Amino acid sequence: MNIILLGPPGAGKGTQARRLVEERGMVQLSTGDMLREARTSGSEMGKKVAAVMDAGQLVTDEIVIGLIEEKILEGNSAGYIFDGFPRTLGQADALNALLERNGVKLDTVVEMQVDDSALVARISGRFTCGNCGEVYHDETKPTQADGVCDECGSTDLKRRADDNAESLKTRLMEYYKKTSALVGYYYARGELQSVDGLQGVEEVAADISKALA
Ligand code: AP5
Repeated sequence: MNIILLGPPGAGKGTQARRLVEERGMVQLSTGDMLREARTSGSEMGKKVAAVMDAGQLVTDEIVIGLIEEKILEGNSAGYIFDGFPRTLGQADALNALLERNGVKLDTVVEMQVDDSALVARISGRFTCGNCGEVYHDETKPTQADGVCDECGSTDLKRRADDNAESLKTRLMEYYKKTSALVGYYYARGELQSVDGLQGVEEVAADISKALA
């Protein structure tokens, strides 16, 4: 099964994608994670995108399509979760062409609907484990022991450079200007299902499972 998780910054795409990886063995393809990895590797591409990401703007279609293409060419039988990709109509068209060329079928697109006010609260409290990638929140999902990841015991807990009020404003604007059109795009193709992302993590996961059934 191959799916897209679509939603604004902080909607919970990464949180739900990680659950699907654990429960179904699917492969998470997060362009945000790939770009952050490129930044820490110090590659030329990583240096080029760092400032764009920190400002909350979208990096070019060409770069993210290239990243996704590399992963699809590696092949995988358990299915992909596209997390944070596509984000523009150009990326959506490119993904269709790429999947078709590689004989991969897109099963469904799950839109996670969350109010802007909840997004601000989610983003401003988020931190992640630099070792295993587990996602936490100061209020809704703190670590059990202060400063220690519940999953792997690492103390390398980080906040993202773009998780601040100024960048978030730009990220939301980018979402409404460039990404939200994809809701209509996938609806018109008969591929869209929407879930209420304002619910708790378990309830959202249950609704996603229903959408995938
Ligand atoms: P990316 O990393 O994709 O960030 P994003 O889309 O802004 O999404 P987030 O990771 O912020 O949120 P999420 O929906 O995954 O929420 P999470 O599960 O963490 O992109 C970063 C940047 O990279 C972009 O701005 C752009 O520059 C660039 N980029 C990436 N892809 C690109 C592309 N395709 N094209 C161009 N540029 C691209 O949850 C958030 C918090 O809420 C957590 O603390 C979590 O614990 C909590 N939470 C989750 N679910 C719930 C719930 N149900 N109830 C309460 N709290 C919850």
